[in-house]
Amino acid sequence: MKRLLIATGGGDCPGLNAVIRAVVHRASQEPDWEVLGSIQAFNGVLSEPTEVVRLDIEKVKGIHFQGGTIIETTNKGGPFAWPVKDKDGKWSYVDRSDEMIRKLQVMQIDAVISIGGDGSQQISELLYRKGLNIIGVPKTIDNDLSSTDSTFGFQTANQIATEAVDKLVTTAASHNRVFVLEVMGREAGWIAMNAAVAGGADVCLIPEMPYNINVVKEALEKRFVRDRGFAVVVISEGARPKGGHMSVQENDEVGYANPKLGGAARRLIHELKEAGFKHDMRETVLGHLQRGGVPIAYDRVLSAQFGVKAFEMALAGDFGKMVSYQHPKFVAVPLKDAISKPNLVTHNNALVKTLKGLGISMG
Ligand code: F6P
Repeated sequence: MKRLLIATGGGDCPGLNAVIRAVVHRASQEPDWEVLGSIQAFNGVLSEPTEVVRLDIEKVKGIHFQGGTIIETTNKGGPFAWPVKDKDGKWSYVDRSDEMIRKLQVMQIDAVISIGGDGSQQISELLYRKGLNIIGVPKTIDNDLSSTDSTFGFQTANQIATEAVDKLVTTAASHNRVFVLEVMGREAGWIAMNAAVAGGADVCLIPEMPYNINVVKEALEKRFVRDRGFAVVVISEGARPKGGHMSVQENDEVGYANPKLGGAARRLIHELKEAGFKHDMRETVLGHLQRGGVPIAYDRVLSAQFGVKAFEMALAGDFGKMVSYQHPKFVAVPLKDAISKPNLVTHNNALVKTLKGLGISMG
């Protein structure tokens, strides 16, 4: 009997369960494979007692359209930075990766599928270098992983953000207001750009292209004639003015490594007021609504394709690689390439040209 362990790491994302189900279904076609799931990323393996569940056809029944992950996740700590509290109540971090690999040997795990974003795949690569038979599956609403045409969850986030723009347009028009919609994406502007094009926004501000507040003000003023008019701005949480920084919130959660972004919309409204913009403005921060709930059909299909391919890579012993969608194929790319640089928006990106062609100001 061969054993495969699945872990879901980092922020959750629509489609995680569809990947898990696909792996289990494909594995069930082989006579000698058993699939297990580690609860809360690799914490389940490292916990005492271990928290690992058996994943069979019964367990994954009907989960392909459920949001979240049935094996839970975490975006804090991990095998290389496990938080421990000392006697004085101070937290420090220890490397438990060797211990984890030994535990996996004792558990007779032959292969690991790690479903996660850039942080999780960095961990996958380090574990691979230590000898673990690991395969990555690219997850994130941010779509900031390179080496794949798309990550799963991204299109669902685009859909949710677009529906938010649609809704804000009607209330903005009724009140002759400007609405500023803040969307997720960390350092990548993909969700903002997609929602701006699909929803017909007037301004789209992304982290990769710091904005000039006077250019934004001018674009918005053009949408008003004698105090009548409205506009919608889609702003990435990581957007910043030229020469400025990203808006970062305080965060005292132990083991949380990333800056907690937030406040870009509020800051933009403040800057517009300071610059003399006179019309009414409101902000909407979409937040985790972009990550919760059911995956759209596109993401369910992409997740299923990733899951089947990941298992087939395990079967073939193709480790140290991440499943990648390179239309129309699903291929295996080395994890080290997948994490070598993030997938960020460039000035000559086709979607940037589309935004400009539509007259959407990027500040
Ligand atoms: O990486 C996914 C993401 O949703 C980002 O877009 C966002 O900045 C972050 O995670 C939020 O993380 P948390 O769930 O820890 O608040």
